[in-house]
Amino acid sequence: MSSPYTTELLTDTVKQAHEKARNQTGGENASYIPYLASVDEDLCGVAIATADGRLFEAGDSRYEFAIESISKVFTLATVMDSIGSEALREKVGANPTGMPFNSVIAVELAKGKPMSPLVNAGAIATASLVPGDTADERWDRILKTQSAFAGRQLSLSEEVNLSEQTTNFHNRAIAWLLYSAGTCYSDPMEALDIYTRQCSTLITAVDLAIMGATLANHGVNPATQEQVLHPDNTAHILAEMMMEGLYTASGDFAYTVGLPGKSGVGGGLLAIAPGKLAIAGFAPPLDGNGNSVRGQVAVRAVAKRLRLNLF
Ligand code: DON
Repeated sequence: MSSPYTTELLTDTVKQAHEKARNQTGGENASYIPYLASVDEDLCGVAIATADGRLFEAGDSRYEFAIESISKVFTLATVMDSIGSEALREKVGANPTGMPFNSVIAVELAKGKPMSPLVNAGAIATASLVPGDTADERWDRILKTQSAFAGRQLSLSEEVNLSEQTTNFHNRAIAWLLYSAGTCYSDPMEALDIYTRQCSTLITAVDLAIMGATLANHGVNPATQEQVLHPDNTAHILAEMMMEGLYTASGDFAYTVGLPGKSGVGGGLLAIAPGKLAIAGFAPPLDGNGNSVRGQVAVRAVAKRLRLNLF
């Protein structure tokens, strides 16, 4: 059966969504990571990648920005594939926290269990479970995974990484808190180092859309045809994204858009229509929950026009 999403429809949809997003005002660049505060706040890009391998883009869709928290999805994928979804759920958890992404209180309330691999605590715990004998081996595995999802070799920005590594004091506290509770499964500063590096990779909205389309396509990258993760695990990952992908706004996003999503403080926003396509938005200014203001406008516009709400 041919796709109901014709090339004409998707070309027009991405253009319209970009137009709508570009005209949206409000929000501020993340300022707690100095690099992010310096990115041009007017940048705005949108991309759609379909599970059948087509790509549509508008605006600053080839601008390279920091992946930040969206990286949590791909580290989760590689750890889930290596230790199994049940072991991961037991060690890290699979529930929304209802708290901000870097909450210490959430960790305390759950007696040290991070609850979700998509908040900072859970992502640091997940990074501590990446297979490898050394930090560099683990990092290698993460970068390979991110690159396989994107279908091209991604790289770390030394500038972003330095900016993060020299200011991540709050995350250091989280890593030590996990360690004291027995929920950091390697040296905590090594886990944090890897986590911080994974946030410092540069991607474009086009990369992000293809990474998402790989999840929409049961783990097969539609551009390269590589099976990047076990098909059984995509449902678990999408469920995590639905519950916690936009942090304290995840419920609102499920209620209004009805798709699993993931945001990053670099301004990236991803939403996935399983079996169909992925939508990526990029624009640096964030709302109070840490989600891209214009990215959300773009994703909402595409989801509405294509009637993608799962419910
Ligand atoms: O650890 C941090 O705080 C950042 N490297 C990533 C946080 C983030 O992207 C939250 N997303 N909206």
